[in-house]
Amino acid sequence: MNFESAKSQLTKVLVTEEQIQSRVAEMAAEIDAKYEGKEVLLVGVLKGAIMFMADLSRALNISTSMDWMALSSYGSGTVSSGVIRILKDLDAEIHGKHVIIVEDIIDSGLTLSWLQATLTARGAASVDVVAFLRKPAAAKVEVPVWLVGYDIPNEFVVGYGLDYNERYRSLNCVAVLDPKVYS
Ligand code: PRP
Repeated sequence: MNFESAKSQLTKVLVTEEQIQSRVAEMAAEIDAKYEGKEVLLVGVLKGAIMFMADLSRALNISTSMDWMALSSYGSGTVSSGVIRILKDLDAEIHGKHVIIVEDIIDSGLTLSWLQATLTARGAASVDVVAFLRKPAAAKVEVPVWLVGYDIPNEFVVGYGLDYNERYRSLNCVAVLDPKVYS
């Protein structure tokens, strides 16, 4: 889906399709350089990270495998509650593995802070965090993030995997949702 198709429900584009692809390529080059010669496990956080994971993993030249977790930080609303539940755990043990957490967005930081601590406690050799978007103004906890695609304003954004009530994930850019849709 492109911006034109959903224009009546969106206010503006924050990150274009072209900007997404060029930033993902830059991020992949940084990961390739740091992890050259190593086997890396990419851990994606469902469902938001699906698009970023698909693009980032294909842009990487190092050897990777992929696993997924589904976590819930909030339901259908627009504000994080801080309550983290595991809806789907990883399929395999991560002991001794180099893990990169692949996230679509850091909002309050509560999800990542919990996830990073959890994967470290499971005995990963290393845990790095790579997030495509971050809202610095919404931070409630400090999360040591290695790579961020774009810092964005504290607005309700959709697209590139991000949803509102499960809609707009397939939007090919990152856009601000018109408040009339959720108010
Ligand atoms: C979103 C997003 C992150 C998390 C970030 O997931 O994908 O995982 O919230 O918020 P935080 O920094 O405030 O913890 P959501 O729970 O909406 O699930 P989804 O990815 O399936 O849409």
